[in-house]
Amino acid sequence: MAITVDGEPVEAYLGETVAAVLIARGDAELRRTRHGASRGLYCGMGLCFECLVMVNGVANVRACMTWANDGMEVRHMAGLVPAEAGKESD
Ligand code: FES
Repeated sequence: MAITVDGEPVEAYLGETVAAVLIARGDAELRRTRHGASRGLYCGMGLCFECLVMVNGVANVRACMTWANDGMEVRHMAGLVPAEAGKESD
């Protein structure tokens, strides 16, 4: 199956979390805080909220607790908006 990450198609496997797909892709940085600090997978079990991404237009979804599904759209976040939106305003 395939998902998209920031608009790019990425292969995913049944039973993988979004975090697993992103890490396998080489994305150590899953989001940036509103102050620009880098955040990534930390606890891997839904407790720390460091892995927040946007999934199918819904912000602040924990990548480590979300199963990848065919056709899913994932976006990195910067603060409370998709990362590419933050870049446009810089
Ligand atoms: S890595 Fe801690 S909540 Fe996802």
